[in-house]
Amino acid sequence: MKKYFYFSAAALCLTLLMFFLGGCCGKVNSNQGKESKMGITKSFFGKTETGQAVDLYTLSNSKGMTVKITNYGGIVTSLTAPDKKGNFNDVVLGFDTLEKYLAGHPYFGAIVGRYGNRIAKGRFTLNGVEYKLATNNGENHLHGGINGFDKVVWQSEEIHKKNEVGLRLHYLSKDGEEGYPGNLSVVVIYTLTGNNELKIDYEAETDKATPVNLTHHSYFNLEGEDPGGSGGSNGILGHLLTIHADRFTPVDNGLIPTGELKNVQDTPMDFLTPRAIGERISLVEGGYDHNYVLNNWDGSLKLAASVSEPVSGRIMEVWTTEPGLQFYSGNFLDGTITGKSGKKYEKHYGFCLETQHFPDSPNKPNFPSTILEPGKKYTHTTVYRFR
Ligand code: GLA
Repeated sequence: MKKYFYFSAAALCLTLLMFFLGGCCGKVNSNQGKESKMGITKSFFGKTETGQAVDLYTLSNSKGMTVKITNYGGIVTSLTAPDKKGNFNDVVLGFDTLEKYLAGHPYFGAIVGRYGNRIAKGRFTLNGVEYKLATNNGENHLHGGINGFDKVVWQSEEIHKKNEVGLRLHYLSKDGEEGYPGNLSVVVIYTLTGNNELKIDYEAETDKATPVNLTHHSYFNLEGEDPGGSGGSNGILGHLLTIHADRFTPVDNGLIPTGELKNVQDTPMDFLTPRAIGERISLVEGGYDHNYVLNNWDGSLKLAASVSEPVSGRIMEVWTTEPGLQFYSGNFLDGTITGKSGKKYEKHYGFCLETQHFPDSPNKPNFPSTILEPGKKYTHTTVYRFR
């Protein structure tokens, strides 16, 4: 009997020990499983109407942030960022198939060029020659024209570094494309850092003087694109926005700057301190779609804007070397587009913060010049940082 007792006790101890060890090891393993690995995966995304093959790259960092980028238009199709509890959700609008991008959309997540935003009447004069650009926004030229950089297939190359991963995109915009002078060789490098930042480095060189103004057109909704996610997003009107700009460039009815640099003080354009996007939007005809003149521009990387979303606790900062920032409050979204999660993108469902030179600069001698000369290099860096 005694013997049996000792035997049972020993068996129980052994079982407990095994259970304990198994539990521990299991836990370690499952934690390891959960740990995110920095890297890039590449998959086939489809073919364009002309049969060009297009890929989708998924960049991941060790914190769990992922960014999906296709070499069609350099489009960011998905970007996850942590909320206050550390849950990652997709915070950009877009689609999960190439077909939907090919069917047409308002520049979701795209690289915009050769000239971001508008050039009045699609005309400008450079070195005594008048150039006529494609017009695609009433009488004006918008975002590079009919077939801008958002609709071309870029050559792509993965970048693997110690603490970051990236995608290098290259596109040669031919002399005369959309009416622009000069062969323009463009490189855009997207980098996902270990610090939850999406960095975008732009470079361009030309063989004839030409205007260049490159930007990125993600529509953010920091509550989450997917209402089934952490949020339940009803749009971006509750997001708190700060823009480090004392002045903005007022526009006419066609959204062309008048040339004035106006103080934001005592106007609904003032975001010098955090204000809800929706707080004064009804006072701005059509909603926000304005270029801000960033303070103390000197070409170095500076904090241009911060956005915080109270429900999720997500914060995004925008850093840039550019002099301007287009704040667009998604005014033209109208529910006719259904996004990747099945959500209809209603008015103000996403916002854009496009770092740039000022719209219509080729026709505004008082604005910083956007003309790139042969032998010179266009450079621009912007960082979207999530915390
Ligand atoms: C930019 C423009 C807007 C609009 C959107 C795209 O932000 O400033 O007027 O054209 O792009 O819909």
